[in-house]
Amino acid sequence: MSAPASSREAAERVKKLRAEIARHNYLYYVLDAPEIPDAEYDRLFRELQELEARHPKLVTPDSPTQRVGEAPLKKFGAVRHEVPMLSLVNAFTEQEVVDFDRRVRERLGLEVAPGILPPATLTRPCVSQVEYSAEPKLDGLAVSLLYQHGRFTQGATRGDGETGEDVTQNLRTIKAIPLHLYGKGYPEILEVRGEVYLSKQVFNELNRQALARGEKPFANPRNAAAGSLRQLDPKITASRPLAFYAYGLGKVQGGVMPDKHSAILAQLRDWSVPVAREQKVVQGVQGCLDYYRDMSARRARLPYDIDGVVYKVNRLDHQEQLGYISRAPRWALAHKFPAQEELTGVLDIEAQVGRTGALTPVARLKPVFVGGVTVSNATLHNQNEIDRLDVRVGDSVIVRRAGDVIPEIVSVVRERRPPRTRPYHLPRQCPVCGADVVRAEGEVVARCSGGLYCPAQRIQAILHFASRRAMDIEGLGDKLVEQLVTQKLIETPADLYTLTLEQLAGLERMGEKSAANVYGAIQKSKKTTLARFLFALGIREVGEATAQTLARHFGDLDAVMEADEATLQNVPDVGPIVAAHIAAFFRQRHNREVIQRLREAGVTWPGVQRTPAARLPLAGKTFVLTGTLEHMTRDEAKEKLQALGAKVSGSVSAKTSCVVVGRDPGSKLDKARELGVEVLDETALHKLLRGAD
Ligand code: IVH
Repeated sequence: MSAPASSREAAERVKKLRAEIARHNYLYYVLDAPEIPDAEYDRLFRELQELEARHPKLVTPDSPTQRVGEAPLKKFGAVRHEVPMLSLVNAFTEQEVVDFDRRVRERLGLEVAPGILPPATLTRPCVSQVEYSAEPKLDGLAVSLLYQHGRFTQGATRGDGETGEDVTQNLRTIKAIPLHLYGKGYPEILEVRGEVYLSKQVFNELNRQALARGEKPFANPRNAAAGSLRQLDPKITASRPLAFYAYGLGKVQGGVMPDKHSAILAQLRDWSVPVAREQKVVQGVQGCLDYYRDMSARRARLPYDIDGVVYKVNRLDHQEQLGYISRAPRWALAHKFPAQEELTGVLDIEAQVGRTGALTPVARLKPVFVGGVTVSNATLHNQNEIDRLDVRVGDSVIVRRAGDVIPEIVSVVRERRPPRTRPYHLPRQCPVCGADVVRAEGEVVARCSGGLYCPAQRIQAILHFASRRAMDIEGLGDKLVEQLVTQKLIETPADLYTLTLEQLAGLERMGEKSAANVYGAIQKSKKTTLARFLFALGIREVGEATAQTLARHFGDLDAVMEADEATLQNVPDVGPIVAAHIAAFFRQRHNREVIQRLREAGVTWPGVQRTPAARLPLAGKTFVLTGTLEHMTRDEAKEKLQALGAKVSGSVSAKTSCVVVGRDPGSKLDKARELGVEVLDETALHKLLRGAD
């Protein structure tokens, strides 16, 4: 779109763009049915931003571009709720729901008081059923959004129900909240009430990031949502993708709203205010209970956390007739799911060793019924998390199990701590194999260093050892390795070389021919290179490139095995963390034994010419490979280039020295041409590799 010349044209274009963006917001946030890809939406958005930048007079506070921008506050102002924000009465059993429905019908005169007629049962057909709006009970925090003439002007938290905090500028950053109502016919003043929440996905991601940084994770999505909304700096709120669902109204003035709750929600949707899709109209108490059961079953699969469902009498005249009791309406009921947090005791703390050697502390708990199941273990993630909670054996703790999430310890009840408890530390030796546990500086995860020997890591270690870029044993896939390990035919990679043809042929689903092939592949793999062998050992942080640099730097295996951390750090690209992992690996007696046995079995490699990396012919050059090569695989080409000191990267940039192009190259070739980077075909590559030899 060419830039509009006059400011009148600009004003028109701005108006059109806003209308279009508003429609796409409606399709995306309310109907969950976007019509255009994100990139197209971004293009419209950018065009609006550019026009507004060129014509600042056209900027309005409800423009979709104006979500962030305000400076941090010193403190939140107070907002009085003209219509108080109430809470709900809770029910935990079906009987309580039956009682609620009976009270509603009695008060509305739809049911004759008990004693006069035989008591109502669930099965008796009932002519005077009440219609309810059944809704998920979202686990976030309640807010009120004030729209004046369709424009979002003020937003507040619930606070104590009478007065809340002014969080307008933070609410503006939530993309699901329209800054201007869509369409027509809204009252002059409309106060929308609903819940600000975090999707499970966003919550898990925030916690994953917090844990990776060694920080404290949020205990639950509600805390995370509240913590994110109550930030004085709106930029922080903007960085946490919060969401919003409306569930009702506050003050309404200067307009007419429908006379049923469900119709009000439908009307809000039409004005682009999101409402949970799971909201549904149901008939009578049986309809409510069916809804509860259905939502319990769907709970784990919902994209957001719920702690129950809410039933609301649908007719507003009935709601009015029923009125309020203290601070809750008589026309609504929250039917809660079983508690997701319970108190229990820590019987023990154990360290579990995963397939990659990572040690995860797990609390063994006194079995407790929480979130609908009996829980007797809870993960403690890592040592940082243990330190943060200061969990000790013997402690009383609060355990949480939310939906499909693994049970977690939320906090320790300090007042109940028995005397003489001690802080817990992960063991220094692997509980499975006894090798040293290493936690490199700056890393959160502690790991067992007995990679070649540790039974917990066996299958993973052997698969890695045999993989194509390591020892390259064709046909030794995961099913086969699993069988070999579970039948105790092998324990370490060294045992592969003592396997007999008969042992292999005797395995399930193994024909004679394939047994012979695998046997042959094992024998063939004995002739390898030092770099491949080092890579095959599966030392933490030692990838192919590092293995090659190590081989080149030290020249033979014994030198690598004897090197201390300081010596290792002289190798290019080896920093303190990698050096610590390498040294710890070779310190383990069992690892050394396995290596010894591998050598005795006949695993050999040609001697390596020691070359300081800087003097290699392609040192300092970066290559990119694209397309299919005829005479070697891309991996082989990569390895050969690396052996000559080149770096091989996946993407073309100004720093790329050369792009090697095979058959059917992709966009990397275009990029290379664009940047004027040298391009080589396969013949030229072979020449280069030969010439450099
Ligand atoms: S209606 C007068 N509907 O639950 C009725 N509340 O325990 C006021 N909540 O403060 C609330 N989902 O934060 C209503 N579909 C829903 C809800 C819901 C979650 C929260 C809300 C309220 C609390 C009361």
